[in-house]
Amino acid sequence: MSEPIIYELGAPGRRAAHLPELDVPQADLPPASLLREEIDLPEVSEVDLIRHFTRLSRMNYGVDVGFYPLGSCTMKYNPKVNEEAARLPGFVFTHPYQPEESVQGNLQLMYELQEFLKALSGFEAVSLQPAAGAHGELTGILMIRAYHLSRGDKKRKIILIPDSAHGTNPASTTMAGFEMVELKSDERGNVDLDDLRAHLNENVAGMMLTNPNTLGLFDENVVEICHLVHKAGGLMYGDGANFNALMGIAKPAELGFDVMHFNLHKTFSTPHGGGGPGSGPVGASHLLADFLPGPIVVAEKCVFDLLTGERCGDIDYESVDEEDEKYVRGAYYKLEMPPQSIGRVKSFYGHFNVMIKAYTYIRMLGAQGLLESSLAAVLNANYLQSLLKEIYPLPYDRPCMHEFVLEGKIEGAPEVRALDISKRLIDYGFHPPTNYFPLIVPEALMIEPTETESKSTLDQFAEAMRKIAQEARENPQLLHDAPVTTPVGRLDEVRAARQLILRWQPESKESS
Ligand SMILES: Cc1ncc(COP(=O)(O)O)c(C=O)c1O
Repeated sequence: MSEPIIYELGAPGRRAAHLPELDVPQADLPPASLLREEIDLPEVSEVDLIRHFTRLSRMNYGVDVGFYPLGSCTMKYNPKVNEEAARLPGFVFTHPYQPEESVQGNLQLMYELQEFLKALSGFEAVSLQPAAGAHGELTGILMIRAYHLSRGDKKRKIILIPDSAHGTNPASTTMAGFEMVELKSDERGNVDLDDLRAHLNENVAGMMLTNPNTLGLFDENVVEICHLVHKAGGLMYGDGANFNALMGIAKPAELGFDVMHFNLHKTFSTPHGGGGPGSGPVGASHLLADFLPGPIVVAEKCVFDLLTGERCGDIDYESVDEEDEKYVRGAYYKLEMPPQSIGRVKSFYGHFNVMIKAYTYIRMLGAQGLLESSLAAVLNANYLQSLLKEIYPLPYDRPCMHEFVLEGKIEGAPEVRALDISKRLIDYGFHPPTNYFPLIVPEALMIEPTETESKSTLDQFAEAMRKIAQEARENPQLLHDAPVTTPVGRLDEVRAARQLILRWQPESKESS
C-alpha cells in the first residue's frame, strides 16, 4: 500500500506553526471574488509536514547520493564551498541597480573570472552575459552574423554542423536566422573532411564544432577543419560544453576557433539541470572580440587613499610605490560595452550567483588543479570504457576524452534496448547514462564518469552493467519491468508526454 501523501493527511484545525499575536492592525482579506476556492490546502501538524518533505527528499537522486554518469549534460561534483561562497551576505544582499562604485567586489570577481576563462581558452576577450550553453551558442552565432554584415558580406547564410552535434546547435543556429547544413562523421568519429570540403563555399558563414565531440572524441583534424573554414571566409564557433576535457591541455583559440561558449554549470562545478540556473560565457578571438555582448567588466588602474579607502582620481598611478604610507595602487572596475557589441543578451549582470561558484572552483583548484581535473576526467572515462567495451559494443573504438558512447545492445538478447538497460541500472542504485544521443549511434548509451569518481565506484558500475547484460540473456522481462525498486515504476513515456500532470490531484479530478 502506498503511503498517504500530505494532501490526504490534512484535517481541519491541525497546525504546523503558530503565528504570534498581531502587532500591526488587522487587514481585511481581498474580496471573496478574488479568492480561489479550489486550492484546498491541507491543514497538517508539524510532524506530518516534516515527514512529507523528508520523504520527498529521500526520493531524489543526485550527485550527493550516488554515481551520476550522465554524458554531455553531466551533473558534476558540486563542492559545498561553492554554496558557502555564493551565500556570503556581501554577495547575497547586493542589488543589480546599485551604483558601480558600491559593487566593486562583485565586479572584481567578474573581471577575474573573465581573465581566468581567457587564460584557459586563449581568447582575447570574454563576456559573462549568456545564461546557459545554448544561449552562448545563439550569442556566438549572432556575433558571426554581425561580423559578416560589418564587412558588407550579406550572402553568408549557412552554418555547417556535424551530425554528432548536440540538439541545441541546430536550434540556436536556426534561431539566429541561418540555414544549417549537416556534415557527416567519418568512421573514426571525426568530421568527414571530404564532406566538409564539398560544402564550403562563399555562402558559408561558419561552422559550429564541439570538440571533444559528443562521442567523447577529440577531432583529430580540428586544426585542418578550422583552416579550411577560414580559407572559405567562414568563422569557427566552438561548442565548449566539453571543455572539462581540455583545461590546461589545449586552448581552443590556438586550435583555430574564433568564438566559443563555456558551460560554467558543467566544466566549473556549478549545479546543472534541475539544480539550475546555468551560465554560458562566450570567449572571442581578436576578430570577434568587439562584437561580444555587453557590458563586460574592465579594470582601470587607479590609486586609493589607505585611510579612507576612497579612490583618488587626481593622483597618478605611477607616482605611488609599494612603500607609500598614504596611498595604495589598485584597480577600479567598470562596465563597458564592446565597440561593435551585438548588445545585451541578458538583463543586468547575467547569472552572478553561478559565476561566484565557478570562480570559487577555479580559485580552489588553481591552474595545476584544473589540469589535473581534466586529466582525471579523461583517465576515468578511458578506464570505464576499457571495462565496458568487453560487454557492450563500442562503435568508435579508440581512446576517448571525458566521455564515451556505447551501443545499448546485448548479444543473445535482441529484444533488450538501451532504455531497458538504463532503467535496470536504477535498481542497482545508479543514475542512468544519457540515452539515444548522439543520434548517429543506434541505442546510444553515453557515459561520462567525471573526474571525481573513485576506481571502486567505476568498478561497481561496470559490474552492474555486466550483471545487467547477463540478466538480459537469462530473463529479459526483468529489464523490461525495471525499475522495480523505486516509488514509481516504468512510466508510459508517450502518455506522460501527452498528458503531462505536474501536480497531485485527487484521483477523481486527475481523470477528468
Ligand atoms: C555538447 C553540448 N552542447 C550544448 C549544450 C547546451 O548547454 P546548456 O544545457 O547549458 O544550454 C550541452 C548541454 O550540456 C552539451 O552537452
